[in-house]
Amino acid sequence: MAYFYTGKMSKGEPGFQKIANKKDIKEGGLLGVELGGNNIVLAMINGQVFAMDAICSHQGAPLEEGTLEGFNLTCPWHYAVFDVRNGKVSDRTVWAKNQTSYPVNVDDSTGDILVNVSAGIRQKGGKEATDTE
Ligand code: FES
Repeated sequence: MAYFYTGKMSKGEPGFQKIANKKDIKEGGLLGVELGGNNIVLAMINGQVFAMDAICSHQGAPLEEGTLEGFNLTCPWHYAVFDVRNGKVSDRTVWAKNQTSYPVNVDDSTGDILVNVSAGIRQKGGKEATDTE
């Protein structure tokens, strides 16, 4: 059997830490987890896992208690809608700001979900373009 390096390892990549396992989360479901003081919400869509900040940028609702339809996560308190793929708030619900999203790796052999919290990205654009932070 030949071994080859694809350039994208599913585990052991610097910065990635195990945060959960795929069996902890249902298809089309949400899971709140804590890693290094960060509250993170995981979403699984079509077997793919996405991660973003779990504290709503509007008034701090726990987004793991929201609802997921397709890639859209709706906040449980005032219904801001975020795209779990990149944390962007919908143009229709601009009372909230974009959430930070995090790179995710899944170990196919164990189902472990690994997240890199130090590589979080908060999208610019829309209302965010005028922010100074
Ligand atoms: S706390 Fe999420 S929309 Fe208000």
